[in-house]
Amino acid sequence: MDDALFGEERLDRRAREVLPGAVHVPAWLSLRRQRWIADRFEEWGRGPIAPHSPLVGGHPMSVRMVPLGLVWGPAGWSETAGPEGAAPLPLPEWLVRLSRAALRSAFDPRTAPSWPGLDPARLDAWAETYEPDVALVNYYPPGARMGMHQDRDESSSAPVVSLSIGDTAVFRAGNTQTRSRPYEDLRLASGDLIVFGGPSRFMFHGVPRVLEGSAPQGCGVLRGRINITVRATGRQE
Ligand code: SIN
Ligand code: MN
Repeated sequence: MDDALFGEERLDRRAREVLPGAVHVPAWLSLRRQRWIADRFEEWGRGPIAPHSPLVGGHPMSVRMVPLGLVWGPAGWSETAGPEGAAPLPLPEWLVRLSRAALRSAFDPRTAPSWPGLDPARLDAWAETYEPDVALVNYYPPGARMGMHQDRDESSSAPVVSLSIGDTAVFRAGNTQTRSRPYEDLRLASGDLIVFGGPSRFMFHGVPRVLEGSAPQGCGVLRGRINITVRATGRQE
C-alpha cells in the first residue's frame, strides 16, 4: 500500500452541512497541526488558571476546562477569575487566524451550504470580520461526557468554531428548541472541525460518549480528548 497516497490525511471525507449553519469538516487539521496544538494544550494547563471542572446544577462536570481570553463567572465574561483575580492566558492570535480559516472551509460555497450562502470573495471578507475573544479548552478524560446544552453565554450570534484532538467523540447535534429529539449523533474524530452559526448557533448539543482508545497515533494526545471552542462573546470593552 502506498502510504503517501492512502495515508490518513488524504482520505476524502468531505465537509457536510449537518443542519443549516452547522458544518462538519472531517480531518481539517493535519496530524502535525494536531500535535502542535496538543503541545500548546500542555502549556495552557500550566497557566494561571488551572484546569478545573465547573459546576453545573451543583455537580462538577466530568471535563476539565481552561479558558483563554476571558473567564465566565457570576458577573458574566470577565478579565479575571476568583477572589485572587487570576487572569487567563490571552487568546492566541494563531487561534484567531485558524478560526477565520475554519469559517472559510466550513462555509466554502463549493459544498453549497445553505447558510450564509456567500460567494468566495464575500466569504473571505466575512471571515476576516470574525473577532473571537474567548476559547474554552476542554479535556475529556476517559469516561467523561457533556450533557445537552446551548452555548448562550455570549451576546454575539457569531459562529462557534470547534476543534477536536484525541479520542473520537459522539457529538449530538440537536435543535434550537429542546434538548431532546430531533438530534443527530455524529463522530468528531481527531482533527475534525465543526462550526455552528446562523440558524444553528443556539442549537442544543452535547457529547454523550467518547470512544476510548480511538485517538490516532501521532495526534499528540495519548489518552482522552481535547476540544477547543472559539467564540465571540459580544462583550463591550
Ligand atoms: C462544548 O459544547 O462546549 C464542547 C463540545 C465538544 O466537546 O465537542
Ligand atoms: Mn457547548
